[in-house]
Amino acid sequence: MNAEQFCAKYAVDRMGTSSLKWDALQVRFGDPDLISMWVADMEFRTCDAVIEAMTERARHGVFGYSFVPDEYYEAFFNWEEKHHGYRPQKDWMRFSTGVVVALYWFVNAFTKPGDSVMILTPVYYPFHNAVKDNGRKLVTCELTNTDGRYTIDYEKFEKDIVDNDVKLFIQCSPHNPAGRVWTEDELDTVLGICKRHNVLVVSDEIHQDIILGDKKQIPSAIVKGGKYADNLITVTAPSKTFNLAGLLNSHIIIENPEIRAQYDNYAKTVNQTEVNIMGLTAAQAAYTQGEDWLEGALSVMRENYEYVCKTLKEGAPKIVITPLEGTYLMWLDMRAYLDPDSVKDFTQNKCRLAVDYGEWFGSQCKGFIRLNLATEPKYVKAAIENIIKNIKAL
Ligand SMILES: Cc1ncc(COP(=O)(O)O)c(C=O)c1O
Repeated sequence: MNAEQFCAKYAVDRMGTSSLKWDALQVRFGDPDLISMWVADMEFRTCDAVIEAMTERARHGVFGYSFVPDEYYEAFFNWEEKHHGYRPQKDWMRFSTGVVVALYWFVNAFTKPGDSVMILTPVYYPFHNAVKDNGRKLVTCELTNTDGRYTIDYEKFEKDIVDNDVKLFIQCSPHNPAGRVWTEDELDTVLGICKRHNVLVVSDEIHQDIILGDKKQIPSAIVKGGKYADNLITVTAPSKTFNLAGLLNSHIIIENPEIRAQYDNYAKTVNQTEVNIMGLTAAQAAYTQGEDWLEGALSVMRENYEYVCKTLKEGAPKIVITPLEGTYLMWLDMRAYLDPDSVKDFTQNKCRLAVDYGEWFGSQCKGFIRLNLATEPKYVKAAIENIIKNIKAL
C-alpha cells in the first residue's frame, strides 16, 4: 500500500476522542485551535486485524485478571526475530504499563537516592524526569551536533561516567529527538565503556520499528554477538509501531538472572503483576498481522519527511534539519532565523502549531522544535507552509 492509499484508508480526525494530542491543546498550550504535531502518536487507525481482535475480545464481555498466553510470546518473539534478528525467551520477559513507568522503576530498582544516572542529551524529557523525580543525580552528556547530525563524544561519555561515578545509563535507540539509528560500532563503544565501568544499561528501543532510512536497527542485546546482554535491560513496546500507546502494554527484557531477580524484588514492592488484556490482545494481533500496515505507515512518514526536507531547503534554507534515520520525530534548529526566546511565540502564535520545544529535551536546545510526521500530509504541508510564510515575513 502506498502513502496515498494508506491515508485514504486509515487517516482519521481525532478531535473529540479524548486524545491528548488534539483534545488537550487548550490545557497544554492554552489554545485549542493549533495544528497538533507534538506528542508521539499517529492520526491513523491501527491495522484491521487489531480492531477485529479487540472487538471480538470486547464481545466476550469479561475483562477479568489476565495471563499472558504462550501465543503472545510466540507472536512477539517471531516479530523480533524476523525484524531485528533477536529472539528473546519467555523467562526474560516482564511487562509494564508503558515504557516511561518502567524507566522510573529501573531508577528505583537499580540505584540509590543520590546515585548518578546518565543520559545522552538532547533526549526525550521523561528520561530527565525519571532521574530527577526520584532524587538521583542527573548526568547529561551532550551529543555532538555537526550541521544537525548527532554523534557521541566517547571521551566525554567515559569521563562523565568516571567523574560522576555513574551507576545507570539510559540509552535511547533509535534516539528521540536526534533521529539516529545507532550503528553497531557506536553501540559497541558505548556499551563497552559502560561494561568497563560497571554501569548498568537500560536501552529504550520503543522506536525500533520506525526506521525511515537505510540504516539497520540493531538491538543492544545482540551487538557483537550478544557481548553486552548480561549488562542490559531492554524496553520495547508495540505502541509506537502500531499506534497503540493508550493501551499501556510494554515489554521489559532482562537476560541476566541476577539483574532479573533484583528487578523482581523491586517489582514486588510496587506489586507490579498485572497485565492489560486489551493491550495484549491488540499487540498479539499486530505482531502477527500488522506488517503491511506498518509498511504503509512508514511510506507516509518517509514521504512527509522528503516533503519537509525539500520544501524547507527551498523556502527556509537556514533551518538546520537533523537527518531522520529513525523515529517519526523531526528535529529542526530554527536559530539561524529566530532568537531562541522567540521560537515559542513564532511557532505557536504565528505558525499556529503545537510542537515539542527544544528546551524540553535539553537545556542547550532552546530554539529547536520537534515535529511529529506520523500524520496526514495535509497537516505537514500546512505546518511547513506556515513556517516558511512567517519566516519570510520576519
Ligand atoms: C524514547 C521514548 N520512550 C518512551 C516513550 C513513551 O513510552 P510509553 O508511552 O510507553 O510510556 C516515548 C514516546 O514518545 C519515547 O519517544
